[in-house]
Amino acid sequence: MIKKCLFPAAGYGTRFLPATKATPKEMLPILTKPLIQYGVEEAVEADIHTMAIITGRGKRAIEDHFDISYELEHQIKGGSKENLLSEIRSLITNCTFSYTRQVEMKGLGHAILTGETLIGNEPFAVLLADDLCTHEEGSVLRQMIEVYEKYQCSVVAIEEVPMEETNKYGVIAGELVDSTTDTYRVTDMVEKPAPKDAPTNMAIIGRYILTPDIFEILRNTKPGKGGEIQITDALLEQAKQGNVIAYKFKGKRFDCGSVDGFVQATNYFYEKM
Ligand code: UTP
Repeated sequence: MIKKCLFPAAGYGTRFLPATKATPKEMLPILTKPLIQYGVEEAVEADIHTMAIITGRGKRAIEDHFDISYELEHQIKGGSKENLLSEIRSLITNCTFSYTRQVEMKGLGHAILTGETLIGNEPFAVLLADDLCTHEEGSVLRQMIEVYEKYQCSVVAIEEVPMEETNKYGVIAGELVDSTTDTYRVTDMVEKPAPKDAPTNMAIIGRYILTPDIFEILRNTKPGKGGEIQITDALLEQAKQGNVIAYKFKGKRFDCGSVDGFVQATNYFYEKM
């Protein structure tokens, strides 16, 4: 039912300068695999094969990554290193990748609105590749699609964070609708509140299922926190109609947009090798 996944990947990644001066943040590797490839694999695990990627200036490496490199393939053919490309080759064979550029970086909400042309009028997933999620059974997106199928409205993945960190996230308040699946109907949402203003410590992470009416709402959403068009503000409009569910996902998340989270993810995956 959810057939497309949108990857907003136009941000500057300033926390990783100078590494991100000429390399997209989404191409930074955890071990040998770039962040965005983990994201695409998570989408595929949720039976999504149409990837819509929002890029910007300096992000060409993402397009090249999801394409065949004939010279390289020819070079390693028949050798011991050939299998190192098998995972990416399978993604290229089994998925389609479409791109559109966000010309001005006006925030995550604006990046999602830029994706309307690739998504059209259907519910879709959004995955921020710098939030790297792992799971034992069923990817976070797969879990969220199950929630979507039950409630038929937008779904955000949430995690409890230390109260002093609420200013890094969109934070929700909600009414518990199902304690066995940890789902809440969202009643309020605030973008990056100071701890004293945060309604709870339940933070939205980089996974969303959105219904397509979000585009019209985003078109009418004024710049909010930081002068950016915030997806949190648009979701609050849906939440006022009772149309946003928050789901406490099962699994682990690493904030690979920060140096600490990036190092933790690297260590975690290295230990698991
Ligand atoms: P971040 O808030 O992490 O910003 O964006 P950033 O620019 O990537 O990184 P820093 O803070 O400068 O280090 C969250 C997600 O939204 C995308 C980013 O690419 C990232 O996946 N984004 C953000 C856009 O695509 N466009 C924007 O205008 C802003």
